[in-house]
Amino acid sequence: MKAAVIAAPKADWEIQEIPAPRPGLGEVLVRVGACGVCHNDVWTAQGVFPFPSFSPAVTGHEAAGEVVELGAGVTSRQVGDRVGTTWVQETCGRCDYCRRNLPLSGQSGMHCPQSVMTGLNVQGGHAEYVAVKAASTVLLPDGLDYATAAPVLCAGYTSWSALRAARPQPHERVAVLGIGGLGHMALQFSRACGFPTVAVTRSSAKHDLARDLGAETVVSDGAGLREAGGADVILVTGLSYEAATDALQGLRPGGRIVLATIDPAGSFTVGPSTLFWSHRQQVIGATHNGLRYLTEALDLVASGAVTPLYEVFDKADVSEAVARTAAGDVRFRSVVVY
Ligand SMILES: NC(=O)c1ccc[n+]([C@@H]2O[C@H](COP(=O)([O-])OP(=O)(O)OC[C@H]3O[C@@H](n4cnc5c(N)ncnc54)[C@H](OP(=O)(O)O)[C@@H]3O)[C@@H](O)[C@H]2O)c1
Ligand SMILES: [Zn+2]
Ligand SMILES: [Zn+2]
Repeated sequence: MKAAVIAAPKADWEIQEIPAPRPGLGEVLVRVGACGVCHNDVWTAQGVFPFPSFSPAVTGHEAAGEVVELGAGVTSRQVGDRVGTTWVQETCGRCDYCRRNLPLSGQSGMHCPQSVMTGLNVQGGHAEYVAVKAASTVLLPDGLDYATAAPVLCAGYTSWSALRAARPQPHERVAVLGIGGLGHMALQFSRACGFPTVAVTRSSAKHDLARDLGAETVVSDGAGLREAGGADVILVTGLSYEAATDALQGLRPGGRIVLATIDPAGSFTVGPSTLFWSHRQQVIGATHNGLRYLTEALDLVASGAVTPLYEVFDKADVSEAVARTAAGDVRFRSVVVY
């Protein structure tokens, strides 16, 4: 099969012929239709995050496609099913964390020492075929095509989980910091739920688009957010904890700032002047929060309430897709068709 192979950290992604995977016990083999490029793929490929622990290295955790073969013991999926795959596939079920019996989520992926993680310790979805645990797949809503589903499988899943984690109340105001893959979905999810929504973006070129996506107000930083009346919930989806720290000045009393962002270098700081304590504010970490939330996000997209914006690349152009994501040029997800 053809796959986007990363020869070494920082190397370009190159389409190469490699052996197709075989579906193991409890796994399905998926003929990938489309796979999105998450910023985490960029960092994994650059060695900012741990480089894939297998060879040839193929990353990607936003693959949507058709089940073409069942591994032993699979009863929940059938050949011909249209599925979405995601980042965390399985955990050991026996370690201290797993004994808590929480849903399969980004949290379990990062806490179980034996978690199976797509594109990190097993082959990822930037390939014609990927073998994944059947129990980690979701059935796609009818009519949702693979390219449109792909950005939901991490970007949408994360931003919807982040919004849910904040437990916004009726009439609360939601701000989204960083309008990229996650952020452009977060804006739409917030609007779809009826919350007055503010976009916080460093990029003046995104102001009109942010309004189209559901922002009533667009500002460029925390001071702008404060001047615009602040927000009860700030969903941090850009690349920077420094920007999240800056946004704190626009967080209302009783507000929640939700960090979906993973900043590999910066720090989030609650400084002495924030009066964080007297405002009784909260900081919440957010990640994929269980497949139920992924299905909710997919259903919102299938219903037309939320529409991922993405640019489609043929697999031959995968390195361009990755470069555009790394440079922040893409509106708002690169989706590669295989
Ligand atoms: N928690 C999880 O489970 C999870 C899952 C997936 C991704 N993530 C994290 O979510 C973040 C966003 O991922 P993504 O795929 O949406 O990335 P992306 O599409 O590349 O978008 C990132 C956005 O961040 C903003 N940005 C870029 N450089 C910045 C800088 N130097 N300072 C401040 N803001 C900057 C830009 O928005 P503006 O132009 O609007 O400022 C950009 O569009 C990453 O940190 C990623 O690691 C977390
Ligand atoms: Zn475990
Ligand atoms: Zn991701």
